[in-house]
Amino acid sequence: MTKNPLIEQRLWQVTDAPFNPGKLHHLETIYTIGNGYIGVRGTFEEGYPGELVSTLVHGLFDHAADELVPELVVLPNPLSLTISVDGEPFQMSKGKVHGYRQTLDLHTATLTRGVIWENSAGVIVQMTFERFASLEHDHLLCQRISVQALNRDCQIALRASIDGNTDNIGVRHWATLVTVPLDTAGSTSLPNSIALHGVMGQSQYQAVVASSFVPPTGSQVSADSSDPIRPAQTFTVALKKGEKTTLTRYTAIHTSRDTGDLLDNVRTTLTTAQMLGYEALHDTHKVEWAKYWHDSDVLIDGDEVAQRALRFTTYHVLIAAPRHDEHVSIGAKTLSGPGYKGHVFWDTELFIVPLLTLTQPRLARNLLMYRYYNLQGARNKAKEGGYEGAMFPWESTDTGEETTPRWTNPLPDGSRIRIWTGDSEQHISSDITYAILQYWHWTDDTEFFVHYGAEIVLDTAVFWGSRVEYNAALGRYELSQQIGPDEYHENINNSVFTNSMVRWHLRQALDVLDWLNAHYPQQATALTDKLHLNAERLSKWQDVIARMFIPRDEARGILEQFEGFFKLEPLDLAPWQPRVTNMDAILGHEPTQHVAVIKQADVVMLTALLPDAVGDDDAKRRNWAVYSKVVDHGSSLSPAMHAWVAARLGLADEAYDLFIHAATIDLEDNKGNVRDGIHGAAAGGLWQAAVFGFAGLETEGTSEKLTLTPHLPEGWRSMQFRVYWHGVQRTVRLTAEED
Ligand code: IFM
Repeated sequence: MTKNPLIEQRLWQVTDAPFNPGKLHHLETIYTIGNGYIGVRGTFEEGYPGELVSTLVHGLFDHAADELVPELVVLPNPLSLTISVDGEPFQMSKGKVHGYRQTLDLHTATLTRGVIWENSAGVIVQMTFERFASLEHDHLLCQRISVQALNRDCQIALRASIDGNTDNIGVRHWATLVTVPLDTAGSTSLPNSIALHGVMGQSQYQAVVASSFVPPTGSQVSADSSDPIRPAQTFTVALKKGEKTTLTRYTAIHTSRDTGDLLDNVRTTLTTAQMLGYEALHDTHKVEWAKYWHDSDVLIDGDEVAQRALRFTTYHVLIAAPRHDEHVSIGAKTLSGPGYKGHVFWDTELFIVPLLTLTQPRLARNLLMYRYYNLQGARNKAKEGGYEGAMFPWESTDTGEETTPRWTNPLPDGSRIRIWTGDSEQHISSDITYAILQYWHWTDDTEFFVHYGAEIVLDTAVFWGSRVEYNAALGRYELSQQIGPDEYHENINNSVFTNSMVRWHLRQALDVLDWLNAHYPQQATALTDKLHLNAERLSKWQDVIARMFIPRDEARGILEQFEGFFKLEPLDLAPWQPRVTNMDAILGHEPTQHVAVIKQADVVMLTALLPDAVGDDDAKRRNWAVYSKVVDHGSSLSPAMHAWVAARLGLADEAYDLFIHAATIDLEDNKGNVRDGIHGAAAGGLWQAAVFGFAGLETEGTSEKLTLTPHLPEGWRSMQFRVYWHGVQRTVRLTAEED
């Protein structure tokens, strides 16, 4: 059957029309563009009251005085542009908007907006705005703005600035921020350019944001440096009715995290852009994106909603994934908003990395290296807690130290709630190990594993060996004061998830050491010495594996999420629909501790990651029957994991509902919090639900065999994707049987 190209094109597009100011923040987030280095929220060039302007660069954290924790710093706004029509500044809230459509083309990672606007004097112009963050040139953002006079001759003034009045929702991080000239530089000539140079207060990171323009033909150019933190250039042009004018803008962003002189780097990026020109830059950007999609696209025939959503979520993972930097990682809200201040959680390793491990292994490796370089922070955390080895922080930034805030900001009644996750959500060390072993297993990247991955696996095992508590009375190992994935219940004892992951982790660590001894004896000796992997330590690991306590209800043949979970007050969630507020917000933080409602996939998460730890298929179904009824999906991480497991259990309708729930978290803002940024883990989780869940892709033990156990949703005629398995790309195509 031939495909309709228009339908095919729409499956790559996210679009909105007419202009709806009520959706400003939602749209800003979902229309974020990026290239793994920068993320630029989809705010409008002309600016609107209340907008959340944000350009973020990986790794640029700063800890402002009086703030609880460091955060990724919002850079000066490189998009800022005022278009005046016969002296009247264009705003969609003024005059008349006769037409508006904004489109994010996922295939080319290009955001466009078309507007037909009438000013108060009746002059009608058509404007088009296009922008992309070059995938070929990390430091480059390209914009093209055109204005056409539709009904009269008119004068157009385009005033482009770099606006340094940005902040992190009221918090400013700049110790200094000043305009710097670019056009006096040695041999390079950048006549139409503006630049701001900033130094952050605490971290002392420096950043330069600079724009260089291709002025509209026949325009008059005037520079304005009257505002030292908002340099501007204005391009004025007279248009006859029907005529069109175009301004091209290149913005370079370089920071002191990059090598070389900042201003030299900026000049080089801008001169290169001017030399290559917009079309050529756009073409190479598209070529790079075509490569991304060749490897990472999942083709679904028969379900437009799922198809578009999966492309949208994959796009957001890809624009967030660092391409050329091993020292940074992806924050929970990617580079698309202020949520969680850019901090990195387990979201990266268990939700985002698998998509990359299987489809873009080079990017997965970068993210895992971030943990390697930050091992010292993990070692410090273990030491501060009185433990050995490496205990990764629950929230991490550029230093690798624990950066989870200890308290919430004041609530409306002035009180604060203690945040325990930084102390007690310790499973992250095993989550990171899981991602490393999964990466090694799929890629066979032994160079990475031997030199970097193994050390993480082993030193986090050392941590667990020192962390577990031996209950002599009961002859078992336990872990008290934990928070499992279900964060509604804090400082509980013996989380099934955590204890099972730890048992598995120690087993893997022993295997890894055996393997190193057999194949890389030098490295085995080096690590044995460095991490003090003596016989006593290893035999304790053996003992923990044999006697780790996993709470279960033997009579019902199910796991008990943590000790005492089944004694909590039951709550029937069925009448609480439709609901967007989390149950802990409704019931209250403390009361929720005593109620058997859980925030997110916990035993179900374990079923996805370590199915054998839950038991045979009957045991999985029994556990599912209990835990899928009490889950609030209060975390965006939850629905995709449930969809994955439901699909594996052959619960087709449930799986599909959960999949669509996960698919629309950002696109439809079904939690009402997309303003804070893209839910990166939900995005990565959706891909896993499709590939590991619906397609049922897995590897058979340690063998070389890939297996598929498909459970395609009804209506999906086919599904196709590619994965790398030991360096070789495989294409999987599943076709539904005809009735
Ligand atoms: O890591 C998650 C956690 O599992 C649930 N709360 C939000 C965090 C960041 O996404």
